[in-house]
Amino acid sequence: EGEAPMQFFLDTGIVDEIRQAAKWGFIDGVTTNPSLIAKSGRKQEDVIREICEIIDGPISAEVIATDYDGMIAEGRELAKIHDNVVIKLPLTEDGIAATKWFSDNKIKTNVTLCFSPNQALLAAKNGATYISPFIGRLDDIGHDGMALIQEIKEIYLNYGYTTEVLGASIRHATHVRDAALVGCDVATMPINVMKSLFKHPLTDKGLAAFLADHQKANA
Ligand code: G3P
Repeated sequence: EGEAPMQFFLDTGIVDEIRQAAKWGFIDGVTTNPSLIAKSGRKQEDVIREICEIIDGPISAEVIATDYDGMIAEGRELAKIHDNVVIKLPLTEDGIAATKWFSDNKIKTNVTLCFSPNQALLAAKNGATYISPFIGRLDDIGHDGMALIQEIKEIYLNYGYTTEVLGASIRHATHVRDAALVGCDVATMPINVMKSLFKHPLTDKGLAAFLADHQKANA
């Protein structure tokens, strides 16, 4: 543990947000999903191609097909867009089987819609690059999203699985802090959550006082 830096991905299909966040210097990658791409009102291929030009890191693009052959055909096309494209597959029987195919063919995968430790185990067994447990959506139904992250980390550690735990459905700054505390490998979050990480009222208050004192002394 503690052998790799925590990675921050932006969870969005809006290219302007990615440009804005890229300036901060700490964005390691981007995740999208069909809902986020739909929000952009653009074609997935165009969005993903543009994102790959802005961020040099893993960019997740999700398949729409729900059958094994369809997932592989769609994933192969998405992988052609750029070397950094990661194929996002839903946690279904076909999705897990397709994960194995992409892993065998040296194409990176992100298994999404994970809500249990056993689901995460299946993804790791088939060589997923990332597993995406949805923290906020579990909290929404009265479960403990962060406990799931912790359990997956422990299970992967027990056996030395190298699948990275990508905390998704992160809704607020406390999720980010807690994900870091349990050693979540990657946190993907919307830009508003990322912006909130900078904020502390005492920072604003302290800076205002420093500047006011400087003005007074130099009046
Ligand atoms: O991309 C998956 C995930 O981050 C979605 O989050 O807020 O729609 O539950 P949310």
